[in-house]
Amino acid sequence: MAITSNGYQSGFGNEFATEALEGTLPQGRNSPQKVAHGLYAEQLSGTAFTAPRHANRRSWLYRIRPAAMHGSFEPYRSSHPAGFHNEFGDGPVTPNQLRWDPLPMPGDGERIDFVDGLYTMAGNGGPAAMTGLGVHVYAANASMQGRFFYNADAEMLIVPQQGRVHLATELGVVEVEPQEIAVVPRGVRFRVELLDGSARGYVCENFGALLRLPDLGPIGSNGLANPRDFLSPQAAFEDIEGEFELVAKFQGHLWRADIGHSPLDVVGWHGNYAPYKYDLRRFNTIGSISYDHPDPSIFLVLHSPSDTPGTSNLDFAIFPPRWLVAQDTFRPPWFHRNIASEFMGLIHGAYDAKAEGFVPGGSSLHNCMTGHGPDAATFEKASNADLSKPDVVKDTMAFMFEARGVIRPTAQALEAGHRQAGYQDCWAGLQKHFRAP
Ligand SMILES: [Fe+2]
Repeated sequence: MAITSNGYQSGFGNEFATEALEGTLPQGRNSPQKVAHGLYAEQLSGTAFTAPRHANRRSWLYRIRPAAMHGSFEPYRSSHPAGFHNEFGDGPVTPNQLRWDPLPMPGDGERIDFVDGLYTMAGNGGPAAMTGLGVHVYAANASMQGRFFYNADAEMLIVPQQGRVHLATELGVVEVEPQEIAVVPRGVRFRVELLDGSARGYVCENFGALLRLPDLGPIGSNGLANPRDFLSPQAAFEDIEGEFELVAKFQGHLWRADIGHSPLDVVGWHGNYAPYKYDLRRFNTIGSISYDHPDPSIFLVLHSPSDTPGTSNLDFAIFPPRWLVAQDTFRPPWFHRNIASEFMGLIHGAYDAKAEGFVPGGSSLHNCMTGHGPDAATFEKASNADLSKPDVVKDTMAFMFEARGVIRPTAQALEAGHRQAGYQDCWAGLQKHFRAP
């Protein structure tokens, strides 16, 4: 790989400043008449110019060639029609509970990189309306070679489940392993290299307002995901010319153009619009020390607010290791129906509301007002558990992409061979315990 990491800068959405060559960043201005080292200055805006200061995101990039330099875009034809798109349909949506096994890994005879390995599961809204989300899984067995990708439609929240990935981006290198996440902002060009030969995971495209840390209210000034644990890359660049390909996702579809150089040529940058990573194991998990357990919003890592206060376009929540100590309480997640819609994945271990069937790399979807909760085996066990002792849920990491709008499964996901047709049976064994007095 051409770009190695120069390390990270700490903090969420900070005004970062970094240069891979000394003296690159202009002082006292953003766009001097001549940039140091013969570089070009280019602004990358992630929010409206006039967004309020606390929400305004942009970075200044000092690069070898401007982003405008590439050939003409034409529709991209994948050699592996896995189906990465935003066609969530406008027909009927099943209210059934849905669950899937992991997306199968590419076969030995195939060479599938991150872009070709993306497979769209579900979503709502879309890039035209700039609201909603796209939910995808990926399975790849090759690094991207000679090509680069950017997504004009969404910032991409990448959740590796198997295999470490090296994200060589315009703004530097972000490396993540399972139980870490990475966010690549809308528009940032990058190349995905696989550090373990193969990789599988989940991707959430956020078409709406940029992901941010939630307010903490009475929790106070610390807790949940702490800002200093978010890491953005130090500048790193490559100066390479050749016959390369630039793949773009634009308005729900993939496009390709020839490009004669690597676009990962940003020698220095400053600003607050940048990729970042976060280790989910650093999450400060908070729960009840008396009775009941709080709503799962207590597990919120990042959210994309909507126009309605308190109602997210997208919530990213996790279910990390934690102690369960509540008294006279059914300790696993309760039975529930929500107005929000929930897409879940499992990164590691077992999920405490399901005895079996929900495996690492698998997915489930419970949409608006669809009843769900612990399966029969979990209910029986937890209803009869000895509450005089604390329980510890360990070696686990599940997550949820939760949305205000119904998350529409794609046709390919509904018809997939790895969908579990009998998922609803996990509740069939729940016994009637009612006895009229
Ligand atoms: Fe749920």
